[in-house]
Amino acid sequence: MPTVVFEKKGKPVLTVSAPEGGSIQDMCDDHAAPVPFSCRSACCGTCRVEVLEGADNLDAPEDEELDVLDAFGQAPPKHRLACCAKLKTGGGTVRVQAVDE
Ligand code: FES
Repeated sequence: MPTVVFEKKGKPVLTVSAPEGGSIQDMCDDHAAPVPFSCRSACCGTCRVEVLEGADNLDAPEDEELDVLDAFGQAPPKHRLACCAKLKTGGGTVRVQAVDE
């Protein structure tokens, strides 16, 4: 089963056993992960996360996610939007950390 580790200031604060194909947003909601959200629809960039490990275990981003990341000068695989990113089926560990402004 895939695992998502949420980190804060470089330290793990929450580890979630994730469902195959699960969304990062659902995991954040279900486990009170330290990732802020606002629009939840790839518009504002509030939910940007740095992917510290396992970017290959996430589905490829769609154009709307890429556009928002680009507006902040960021891009996959190092950065993703938590409201968009989903785990691939059969994925392993993913470590993410909210982007601090
Ligand atoms: S919450 Fe606005 S882009 Fe994800």
